[in-house]
Amino acid sequence: MANPSLLILAGDGIGPEVMAEVKKIIGWMGARRGVQFDVSEDLVGGAAYDAHGTPLTDATMARAQEVDAVLLGAVGGPKYDKLDFSVKPERGLLRLRKEMDLYSNLRPAQCFDALADFSSLKREVVAGLDIVIVRELTSGVYFGEPRGIFREGNERVGINTQRYTESEIARVAKSAFELARKRSNKVCSMEKANVMESGILWREVVQEVHDRDYPDVELSHMYADAGAMQLCRWPKQFDVIVTDNLFGDLLSDAAAMLTGSLGMLPSASLGAPMANGRPKALYEPVHGSAPDIAGQGKANPIACILSFAMALRYSFDLGAEATRVEKAVEKVLADGVRTADLMGPEGGTPVSTAQMGDAIVAALDASL
Ligand code: NAI
Ligand code: MG
Repeated sequence: MANPSLLILAGDGIGPEVMAEVKKIIGWMGARRGVQFDVSEDLVGGAAYDAHGTPLTDATMARAQEVDAVLLGAVGGPKYDKLDFSVKPERGLLRLRKEMDLYSNLRPAQCFDALADFSSLKREVVAGLDIVIVRELTSGVYFGEPRGIFREGNERVGINTQRYTESEIARVAKSAFELARKRSNKVCSMEKANVMESGILWREVVQEVHDRDYPDVELSHMYADAGAMQLCRWPKQFDVIVTDNLFGDLLSDAAAMLTGSLGMLPSASLGAPMANGRPKALYEPVHGSAPDIAGQGKANPIACILSFAMALRYSFDLGAEATRVEKAVEKVLADGVRTADLMGPEGGTPVSTAQMGDAIVAALDASL
């Protein structure tokens, strides 16, 4: 059988710097674990604009549709700020998400013990935290019609519409239940069914999908405002949280910050299953191209490395290897290895991007 395929789009700024460290991990997996990927690389964002006059060529788009997973670094930078909206680097990323129809956005909040004191919450509240927020990404109030700013009598009125179809809710619910089965089999669905009809439908459809296809998964429902409180009070009560685009935007940012630095946060965006059963998938760190530190070897590669670990788990059913990578990250942090963004007030000497990658590879070696 052919090796699973991976398309790497490193992008701009620190994107290629952090991706270089991911490539070390990919190489290690091949050499030491016999896990081989058919890796191809291409340009996206400003780098693609510089070479081709567009932030994503049709050929790259077509390749992204064929592969088992896309791994993206980051796009954008001041050099491109004055470009026309239609060719801005971000448009490359938006086109990927839209044409691959990536409706399910996975944002983990995972707290490594060595960084628990970085959190604004108490150590015991966050230490060992490992939850995932599944945010619906392609519908809801950011897309619903009618929308706009209109005149009504002698004042203006701004309108956005929260709209969800049954099939849109059902597919993201399925995605959350599938995810839960690869974790600890527990889903909490959040909406505002007390005040929104779209929330009533959300709750009904999630329950129906559960009862029909996932009765083995433990399902609970919570109003999103209560959920926000519970996330701050005792986040470890959750495993997978599934919610709509708007609530997910807020809850996933809040949950991510329970655990510390932007340089630590991975993400996945998943779409419909392909012919081989794997979902369409794009994995990327949450952070951007960080022009303020680009080219200086200061970037933390962990967010991108953990994004690759998510690919191992959710695209390639290699959960044990994903855990191996996460444990290696945990060990390196416990040993006190820190990039500049992870330095506490007590100071110390930060390692470079490449040194962090090398330390993680060494920890992987030690895991065998
Ligand atoms: P950013 O995430 O690039 O940077 C925010 C701050 O966090 C900066 O101080 C940066 O140095 C730091 N930071 C980010 N990632 C880091 C890492 N891995 N290690 C250490 N420090 C890190 O967000 P910003 O500054 O708002 O945007 C910069 C550019 O990136 C813009 O052109 C923006 O449009 C683009 N962007 C792209 C995204 C993507 O490709 N998905 C997401 C967010 C922004
Ligand atoms: Mg946001």
